[in-house]
Amino acid sequence: MALNRRLIVVSNRVPPGSSFESQGRGEASVGGLVTAVRAAMEQSGGLWFGWSGRSTRRRVTTGPTVRLYGRIQLATMDLSDDEVSLFYLGFSNRTLWPLLHSFPTRVVIRHDTYRAYRRINQRFAQALMPFLRPDDIVWVQDFHLFHLGYELRRLGWQGKLGFFLHVPFPPAEIFSILPWASDTLSSLLQYDLVGLHDDRYVHNLVDTLNFKLGGEFDGENYRYRDDTARLGAFPIGIDPNSFKPREEGHAHTLENELGLADNPDRKLILGVDRLDYTKGIPHRLRIFERLLERHPTLGSKLLYVQISSPSRTRVPEYVQEKDQVERLVGQINGRFSEAGWVPIRYLYRSYAQSELAGFYHDADVCLVTPLRDGMNLVAKEFVAAQDTDSPGVLVLSSFTGAASTMKDAVIVNPYDIEGTAEATYRALRMPATERRRRNRSLLSVVERHSSQNWSDSFCAALQEL
Ligand code: UDP
Ligand code: G6P
Repeated sequence: MALNRRLIVVSNRVPPGSSFESQGRGEASVGGLVTAVRAAMEQSGGLWFGWSGRSTRRRVTTGPTVRLYGRIQLATMDLSDDEVSLFYLGFSNRTLWPLLHSFPTRVVIRHDTYRAYRRINQRFAQALMPFLRPDDIVWVQDFHLFHLGYELRRLGWQGKLGFFLHVPFPPAEIFSILPWASDTLSSLLQYDLVGLHDDRYVHNLVDTLNFKLGGEFDGENYRYRDDTARLGAFPIGIDPNSFKPREEGHAHTLENELGLADNPDRKLILGVDRLDYTKGIPHRLRIFERLLERHPTLGSKLLYVQISSPSRTRVPEYVQEKDQVERLVGQINGRFSEAGWVPIRYLYRSYAQSELAGFYHDADVCLVTPLRDGMNLVAKEFVAAQDTDSPGVLVLSSFTGAASTMKDAVIVNPYDIEGTAEATYRALRMPATERRRRNRSLLSVVERHSSQNWSDSFCAALQEL
């Protein structure tokens, strides 16, 4: 769809400018938001505003830096060390992240981090305002910026204003743990359109609005006092073409590196995640361990590659998670390794998406088993990267947004270690006809719900309001 207005995207995280200079996929992406927004912005063009990823010791007094990369204008601002610590590491990642993913015992409530969060939302609005023209469409992304719309309205912005939440919205009792739940919900109603990945999350949001504010929902619009916001599900996706198998040379190098070329019977199990406790990597390692215990004959015929890209490394919960993962990898490798075989190859680093495409392509089974995940794009990338003649099998947690539409994956409950180990065993032995049928059906879902469709449908709905 051709947008007849300029698109302004605002997100805390933006891709590094250098990734545009290297023509796209040469650098590792930093999560699902950047993957999908970037694919959409490359088509529509426009202004992308966010945090530079840099911080300074002193308070920042300079304005945003603006650079043009093709049709995308990237405007970024620095934050001070204190702001990063309170707003990003603190309120965003120790309060909102566990709250929205329904990990209530991990939620840290601190008034100073909330105050900093409100200040940064205000600063973003003040810095963005001079860039805006009346006909623009402003599209705010994710939980770091819940109040940005409210702040823009206060500064006089009357144009179109949309918001998309890239993570789940939890049940009302969980969201109510937040002492500032009502203010946050009131701010959400300042947007014309609020998008979530899935009807289940829309349902939770409506329920929470009813519980905390007590307005009315007519199935599309939520009304409370003088404010009305349209709420809807807009499932995010990828650009499937950028993961289609093509780099023959790369695939061969990878096969050699992983020792697959010398062991044609060896099966590759793959996991790819940011190192985040929501991804359930320790559960997955136990699932793999149970698989080896239950089926000793598989032994050296299996290789499990776990790519864990470093994430939020200064947040204590992430430091603990990394320690736990590394301890478990050590224990399992110590227990099962033989002279010529180590069962788990643990890679604590980020890969460019062109490299990930090679791993996806070579994998027989991809374990996408988060304990909770808004959507999960790795699942979609894996499906897009398969050879249609001999595709690998996607094992997918029912606690991901992706599971709502990707019904032909092998759907599992990752808390059930035994059951998921058996499902993985069946996936490893699945006949080619069934693998092909499932992959065909999954690919059609991935193509239908692409990043382009996601942004087109959201912007069209916003434009019409
Ligand atoms: N990703 C990457 N390099 C890595 C690991 C991940 O580029 O080493 C990308 C991956 O291709 C995907 C995104 O990071 O597009 C992860 O998105 P997902 O929705 O699965 O999870 P999130 O990280 O947003 O929670
Ligand atoms: C998830 C969030 C995004 C975030 C990404 C990476 O996908 O929904 O908002 O950008 O994780 O996390 P980071 O903290 O590095 O931006």
